[in-house]
Amino acid sequence: MSVENFNYEVAFSRNLGWVTETEQAILRAKRIAIAGLGGVGGSHLLTLTRLGIGHFNIADLDIFEQENFNRQAGASIRHVGREKIEVLAELALDINPQLDLVKFPSGVSTDNLDSFLEGVDLYVDALDFFAVEIRQAVFAACAEKGIPAITAAPLGMGVAFLAFLPGQMSFEEYFRLAGQTEDEQLLRFLLGLSPAMLQAKYLVDDTRLDLNAHKGPSTAMACELCAGMAGTHALKILLNRGEVPAAPRGLHFDAYRNKMAKTWRPMGNDNPLQRMGLKIIRKRFSEKLAMAPVKTEVLPASAVERILDYARWAPSGDNTQPWQFEIRSDEHFVIYTRDTRDWCVYDLDGRASQTSVGALLENIAIAARSEGLDASFSLDDPSADAEPLIDVYLATREQPAEQSSLLPYIKARSVQRLPLATRALMAKHKLALEAAVGPGYRLIWIEGRQQKWQMARLLLRAAKIRLTIPEVYEVHKRIIHWGVQFSTDRIPDQALGADALTLKMMKWALQSWSRVKMLNRYFAGTLMPRIQLDLIPALRCGAHFMIVADVPRDKCSDYLAGGRATQRFWLTATQLGLQLQPEMTPLIFSTYSRKGRRFTDCPEKLAEADLLRGELDALSGGEVDAVFMGRLGFGASASSRSLRKSLQQLEQ
Ligand SMILES: Cc1cc2nc3c(=O)[nH]c(=O)nc-3n(C[C@H](O)[C@H](O)[C@H](O)COP(=O)(O)O)c2cc1C
Repeated sequence: MSVENFNYEVAFSRNLGWVTETEQAILRAKRIAIAGLGGVGGSHLLTLTRLGIGHFNIADLDIFEQENFNRQAGASIRHVGREKIEVLAELALDINPQLDLVKFPSGVSTDNLDSFLEGVDLYVDALDFFAVEIRQAVFAACAEKGIPAITAAPLGMGVAFLAFLPGQMSFEEYFRLAGQTEDEQLLRFLLGLSPAMLQAKYLVDDTRLDLNAHKGPSTAMACELCAGMAGTHALKILLNRGEVPAAPRGLHFDAYRNKMAKTWRPMGNDNPLQRMGLKIIRKRFSEKLAMAPVKTEVLPASAVERILDYARWAPSGDNTQPWQFEIRSDEHFVIYTRDTRDWCVYDLDGRASQTSVGALLENIAIAARSEGLDASFSLDDPSADAEPLIDVYLATREQPAEQSSLLPYIKARSVQRLPLATRALMAKHKLALEAAVGPGYRLIWIEGRQQKWQMARLLLRAAKIRLTIPEVYEVHKRIIHWGVQFSTDRIPDQALGADALTLKMMKWALQSWSRVKMLNRYFAGTLMPRIQLDLIPALRCGAHFMIVADVPRDKCSDYLAGGRATQRFWLTATQLGLQLQPEMTPLIFSTYSRKGRRFTDCPEKLAEADLLRGELDALSGGEVDAVFMGRLGFGASASSRSLRKSLQQLEQ
């Protein structure tokens, strides 16, 4: 369609019904000023243009970058590096070529405020959250000139809305920012915007909030909701109809929580409720300000680095990551492995570490295929049965590069230790998992109420051993990372699956072995951890599984192969939308018993392990060589998890 054929009445005729023809003509005559065309400003401009507003003053000095893609209208490949104001002007003129757009490409400042607000009927705030000073100045100028001013803030997956109308409470009277430090102003702005703080409950990774760098998490849904909210109130203000909540009243709609809060804070941030809220978030803010910023990792440059970057996400017992890499050429690298048997009871003969290395090899094979390469592995000394040194050779595939269906799940796979849905697995899930382990392995399913109880009993017995012997105490002390959501070299306490109180008790107890002994003797210290970490998860899952080797394994390469099968199983489970938690302790203590090996100096715990072995054999229908055990079920992925050392740290 050519611009000459554009007809305002036709283009916006579908607004009619919700607005009258006269009202549409009024909207066409109005001028709206929008400061900022980033997160919400661009959406405001496009929404208000579609409402049929005829005149805009727009201000922005920024250019589009990739970081804007998740939410900003106009942010796309072809606009990277271009000025936002130019791109949005083009997009708006493409909707209404008759628009009267006055552009302020150096942004809004105290120098151009008068011309920015010249002839304006409504100001829509879309300045960056952190631009406190200029925001204050614009709202003050609006109040002085009698221009209604509104702000719709994207918070989580919702919108918080405030309106400052002529003759009513002003921005400054509401937020009370004058004379405060910048940090204090920011938190007053935040709490003033959303006294209900509906978004706070579902922030799953608060390390992404980097106050020092003025960066925070955001969503496109929130920006679109903002445009909807601001557009609706612009209509009401400009047409003098409908209820507009003016400060100190506010609206907060949160689509994630399915909640709408209408707030009323007379005296704004001086209201006692706000003062209390400020105290709480001030404390949180000071902790956040002291936090180290999230480091952006160097992007891997070569195919080998990209392969290793996937490989390092392999699971390992207690997140020990028992490997180092040495890149020798574009076609060859070496994996140096070690095991943790000297300090970790769970790593009997280093077999758990070898299983983990197997998972690493499977990741390498999958990632190589997506680079059009075949990976082959050779043990430097095939007769060595510990800490193998593995040469990896990459050769161009006959077939073209093939995106393995499992590749995206390498980074998405993670342990979930929280209770899962009890919904049984369907036949198609089981078939896919049985196919995933490949020839040489089979699966035993432990499911249904009765078997889950049997499994729970087994896990409780293993936990009783686990939590009461000094040998394991040393391990737990070393591998739990306290007070964190993520850990690159250990397991974060928040990923263990215990509630805050139990974690506190565990942390206190793990300070010394005598505390553990005292708690266990007098206060049934293992009770809460065993209920939360073993009993409930054992019952709350779809099924337990055992991956069994057809031929009993006896050498290192067998354990590597078992690890590869396990990783295929785990990645396939992730692909199927299932969560998984390994349950290896019954297996490990049974193996100690089977081999007649001592894992502790406490004789009664050795006897417990013998009982455990009998129960495990009964559950698996006789003595089998179990490669891996765990539970599966539907549920959300873990919000707290182990991360990995960087490639730089893992390279020799
Ligand atoms: C051989 C092996 C044994 C494991 N045993 C257990 C276990 O008994 N219980 C458990 O909760 N997690 C177990 N894990 C999971 C690891 O703790 C986990 O993979 C590691 O911390 C990395 O976290 P991620 O898998 O979430 O990335 C085991 C992992 C491997 C590879």
